[in-house]
Amino acid sequence: MEAPTQAQSHLTAKLPYLRSDLDLLHVEFTARILGDEVFERLETSIRNGRIADVPPSLEREGFQLVVHPSATVRDRTEELKAPGGLLTQSDALRAYWAETIPLIARLSGARDVLPLHASTVRFSPALKNDKAMTPAGWPHVDYDTPESEVQLKETLELNQFDPAPYSRYVMYQCWHVLSEPPQDIPLAMCDGRTVSVDDIVPIEYHMKTPERDVTYQSSGARFSDRHCWWYFPDMTREELLVFIGFDSALGDSFKTLHVGIRDESHERPVPRISLETRYFALFD
Ligand SMILES: [Fe+2]
Repeated sequence: MEAPTQAQSHLTAKLPYLRSDLDLLHVEFTARILGDEVFERLETSIRNGRIADVPPSLEREGFQLVVHPSATVRDRTEELKAPGGLLTQSDALRAYWAETIPLIARLSGARDVLPLHASTVRFSPALKNDKAMTPAGWPHVDYDTPESEVQLKETLELNQFDPAPYSRYVMYQCWHVLSEPPQDIPLAMCDGRTVSVDDIVPIEYHMKTPERDVTYQSSGARFSDRHCWWYFPDMTREELLVFIGFDSALGDSFKTLHVGIRDESHERPVPRISLETRYFALFD
């Protein structure tokens, strides 16, 4: 179903930035909830990327909306939505990877593209799905340099891929809505060029499953009035938001912060269900 594109140029949201005096946070992955006392909610203007004269791009801002009809999303939505555990991959997910890898290769011009075994499905809290993850609640990035190195090594092993020498790698994150528009909680993206390393606060996510006990490093952010935020209202199931999670050529100097935001411009928004997949692209 094609959604009407909203004409409004921006919306305002109170983004829950981390308090400016914080330097480190620890989070249990199963809860993924931080106490309200760590945030300062600051009103922020978020521009509508659909009506920009020059839409955001991977090369400049670090993210881009692309049309990407997926047969897997069309025909196997229920399989994609089914809980599979944090570290398991369903046949439907593998089919989705197979459709998306050529797109990432085309957008990036990379020589090799490999999927990370780190996909997530998130359900709006309105669906009251206790077993599912909810949309990301605060501005963050998922990977820094050391964590990207760890993830790349693990991805090469899990894909049993021995690469030829490469000069650069980029991790792309792909955000696909599985629910129809208009979503209640779209994803907002920050122009990576407007984020400074001084804005970043490390966050440790501890995850314990019967098989593994690991701590992943990611990052939250303090407020800066330089941050330039965008969103794409009413994304359809035929669209994909692609963003750079980490670029080895830019390192920690380029951070595409992102966060779920409430879009209150619709009387009856649809609770958002979204699939996020990630890919490493290797360059000659
Ligand atoms: Fe994220």
